[in-house]
Amino acid sequence: MPAPRRIVILTGAGISAESGLGTFRDKGGLWTRVDLSEVATPEGFARNPQLVHDFYNARRANALEAQPNAAHHALARLEAEWPDEVLIVTQNVDDLHERAGSRNVMHMHGTLTGALCAACGHRWPAPRVMNPSDACPACGAPQTRPDIVWFGEYPYGMDQIWDKLRQADLFAAIGTSGTVFPAAAFVQDAARAGARTIELNLERSDAAADFDEHRHGPATRIVPEWVEDLLRG
Ligand code: OAD
Repeated sequence: MPAPRRIVILTGAGISAESGLGTFRDKGGLWTRVDLSEVATPEGFARNPQLVHDFYNARRANALEAQPNAAHHALARLEAEWPDEVLIVTQNVDDLHERAGSRNVMHMHGTLTGALCAACGHRWPAPRVMNPSDACPACGAPQTRPDIVWFGEYPYGMDQIWDKLRQADLFAAIGTSGTVFPAAAFVQDAARAGARTIELNLERSDAAADFDEHRHGPATRIVPEWVEDLLRG
């Protein structure tokens, strides 16, 4: 079989777990402790913007303290050494891929480091602590929100992501439960277009049956091993 060329990698909370950032659906995960309809929907934000800002201010503080781990570093190495395109599409709102050195990263669910004006759509770097009374630097409206894609909103960059999935020779999903759409369907989109698919996860995910190949274990072990194998050819 010829060596795969264009690689698209979908990452989820599991890749940042060993950097100390919690996952969502594992035992003790964020959505087992916090009501997502209160903190991760436009309706929740309209009801109680202070609660939502407090939630993301705390997550922003955690993310700023966290350091990229061996899995993030391995993906940065893959991008640097691979002869063709390596694209990371991440569902994560932390910036650990970028801080590990990855350059070709799309944040389909937004970023904790971004602020967005709900009135005019202007974007700017988020301060460490955001408040409902913060005014938009462009239009002055006090309707600033974290630049996060909430449930019921459309993820960022979808047309470009689907294009890249159609062109991919290899699709990998790392540290994601495969339960949130449209990301959960990327494996099928890529496979339909002819890509080989691999799941790298702590354990079999709900979507495991859709993948050609699996590697199970902690991301800090299995991702560097996989990258090493790919680069060795
Ligand atoms: P989940 O919490 O749903 O899934 C995390 C996955 O990572 C699980 O399958 C775990 O088994 C796996 N995992 C945990 N620790 C790991 C480790 N050390 N190494 C490898 N794998 C590990 O998180 P996501 O799939 O990222 O969206 O969740 C998708 C979206 O749901 C998030 O982007 C977020 C959430 O609601 C929004 O907030 C819009």
